[in-house]
Amino acid sequence: MRSTPKNIAILGATGSIGRNSLQVIKALPDRFRATYLVVRRNVDGLMDLVAEHRPKGVALLDEAAADAFRQKAGDSLEVLSGAKGVKEIVGRDDVDLVISALVGFAGLEPTLEAVRKRKTIALANKETLVAGGELITRLVQEHGVDLIPIDSEHSAILQCLVGEEPASVAKLILTASGGPFLTTPVERLASVTVEEALNHPNWKMGNKITIDSATLMNKGLEVIEAHWLFRLPPERIDVVIHPQSIIHSMVEFVDGSVKAQLGLPDMKLPIQYALTYPNRTPMNGARVDFPGIQSMTFFEPDRRKFRCLELAYGALQLGGTAPAVMNAANEVAVEAFLDRRISFQKIPDLIGRTLDAHAPGPVSELNQILEADHFARSHARSLLS
Ligand SMILES: NC(=O)c1ccc[n+]([C@@H]2O[C@H](COP(=O)([O-])OP(=O)(O)OC[C@H]3O[C@@H](n4cnc5c(N)ncnc54)[C@H](OP(=O)(O)O)[C@@H]3O)[C@@H](O)[C@H]2O)c1
Repeated sequence: MRSTPKNIAILGATGSIGRNSLQVIKALPDRFRATYLVVRRNVDGLMDLVAEHRPKGVALLDEAAADAFRQKAGDSLEVLSGAKGVKEIVGRDDVDLVISALVGFAGLEPTLEAVRKRKTIALANKETLVAGGELITRLVQEHGVDLIPIDSEHSAILQCLVGEEPASVAKLILTASGGPFLTTPVERLASVTVEEALNHPNWKMGNKITIDSATLMNKGLEVIEAHWLFRLPPERIDVVIHPQSIIHSMVEFVDGSVKAQLGLPDMKLPIQYALTYPNRTPMNGARVDFPGIQSMTFFEPDRRKFRCLELAYGALQLGGTAPAVMNAANEVAVEAFLDRRISFQKIPDLIGRTLDAHAPGPVSELNQILEADHFARSHARSLLS
């Protein structure tokens, strides 16, 4: 018997994860349907996606952009707007699964709403767990929600853990490509350009995560994300540089055995795994060609050169609101770097100084996270000016 396709709401449809998700969904029309698309303000990009994927409705966070979209689209589909519109879509009865792929802290509240409405969540927005991990994971448990990671490292760990007892896990090993400045001398980092930082060697992603990859903050955010998803303390989550990005992460077990998940650097694979979890479905595309790879290398990250990684471990150790503060300061710093207002090396400075100015508090309620985020943004901005 054929079942009806699962209705999916994609938050961040115009982004890199959003567009890859739409391709995965399009290739499996009997299984999935892109029912709602949510973006911030990219009117033309959304118009193109609507023409191709024919969702029932859309939402734009930006009210002015939503008005512009309504004028172009007419009454061919439902158009909602603002945070309220996004919240409404996430909670609708005709949404079975939410792909959370907005960028940054903006992903937290819609994801929280999806948890409250007991939707299955495929999570790309790592900032949600960095800023609100304690609250989100508590509510996920209370509401019995499936929260499945899309991030390739966490998808790899999830795949390695299938069939294993939690007590047999010794540690998680997250792999990192090392980004575009892996071999750049530390003295050169102060003068690297935005274009150089955006030139990631292996992955094609949105601008914010690409800069995070260049500073290694992305790996720091992933350590915190892994802590909340897999419930291990920071000292049992390691990072290893693996420039070829073929091994997406590993799990070491108590007997010394190590399982790794391998694949080409293409986000469609972890996205499809999150949608079909715990099953697998055939997927077309290139396969790992081992003789073609020839060698895979691994080494320790240089934590003095890439200070953001150390800042993230420190924030996780501090706990409470510290990771939310670090996340917000990082968003301000990355935006300032992309706007060419600060140098690459000022990114960790700004985050470190904002963390130093904050006394971590508890994070059991949303308003505590929002206040910490607000404090960090204003403090980091005051340091910029
Ligand atoms: N790209 C990857 O390969 C990858 C891998 C793992 C995890 N992730 C995570 O997935 C999330 C999305 O990454 P991405 O690379 O797909 O980002 P992206 O290409 O920059 O797309 C971001 C999406 O979010 C919207 N957006 C941008 N700024 C926003 C803001 N300030 N508030 C609310 N919405 C905003 C954009 O809408 P408009 O187009 O309307 O501006 C777009 O739909 C991030 O949390 C990232 O860390 C990405």
